[in-house]
Amino acid sequence: MEERKTILSGIQPSGELTLGSYLGAIKNWVSLSKDYNCYYCIVDMHAITVRQNPASLRRRTLEQLAQYIACGLDPEENTIFIQSHVSAHAELAWVLDCYTMFGELSRMTQFKDKSAKYADNINAGLFTYPALMAADILLYQADLVPVGIDQKQHIEITRDIAHRFNGIYGDVFKIPEPYIPEVGAKIMSLTSPENKMSKSDKDSGGCIYIMQKPEDIMRSFKRAVTDSETCVRYDPEKKPGISNLMTIYSVATGKSFDEIEKEFDGKGYGDFKPAVGEAVVEMLRPIREEAERILKDKAYLEKVYRNGAEKAAYTANKTLRKVYKKVGFVQK
Ligand code: TRP
Repeated sequence: MEERKTILSGIQPSGELTLGSYLGAIKNWVSLSKDYNCYYCIVDMHAITVRQNPASLRRRTLEQLAQYIACGLDPEENTIFIQSHVSAHAELAWVLDCYTMFGELSRMTQFKDKSAKYADNINAGLFTYPALMAADILLYQADLVPVGIDQKQHIEITRDIAHRFNGIYGDVFKIPEPYIPEVGAKIMSLTSPENKMSKSDKDSGGCIYIMQKPEDIMRSFKRAVTDSETCVRYDPEKKPGISNLMTIYSVATGKSFDEIEKEFDGKGYGDFKPAVGEAVVEMLRPIREEAERILKDKAYLEKVYRNGAEKAAYTANKTLRKVYKKVGFVQK
């Protein structure tokens, strides 16, 4: 039998998971888990590049784990773990730091954006963030890394670091490819549909959260920004708000844009917006209920993250040992 290819991805527990993270990432992870050997992590070490409240970070990490499972990621079939539980990530990141150039890191757009946004805390971790991300990926010899388009540059630098290392020491790392899904890759804000739906978009109602109450979800959809026409038609250039709602409705119901245009032919936004809201509420309801149930079962969650860390560490340590040997560390 041919070896299954390996996938790795992760999300920071720096805020609540959003509808965008579900449709753009986790839903794809679930479908990939049938055909690939998958590692899905919660990257808590990346999260502390921005100041976090310790109690919230701890709570959100466990919530995120419960939500991964509730979204359909089976911990028996996938390796689901918390990044800080596998010490090889920090260890390889240090080695890779020494094979990553200051100039390369300075060109990262996420670094530039975040250092503008958090000007009072431009720490070294924020700067070397991509080397830690490269470690996440390279430790597992991942073939494919599903990410949003905003992370493509970090996959490119990962490839550059891996090439550089392999060029010196031989084939140590598999060179990973980004995997950017087309549908649902970009769910936009409901209040400013030119921008990606973002968890930092907290108060505006532009962002929907997986765990949000149905009435709050409905309120946000009813208030979603549209345009001055009245017809439901897909045109992301001229009608970004309606097109975003159509994308969401399409992923939630499985209907094509043509079918949606027909369904709402002759009806206005006053019918369409609540219909999208209801579809989203019904899509998220079982996930929210299941996540709430799992979150109460602390013993189960603990079992999941312990097993996950053990499985992950087994593979990660193999790569790390090889790297340590190559660079000339004495074996213990
Ligand atoms: N940097 C990613 C983000 O902010 C999160 C991340 C960390 C990640 N390590 C990763 C994604 C490894 C994919 C693979 O979205």
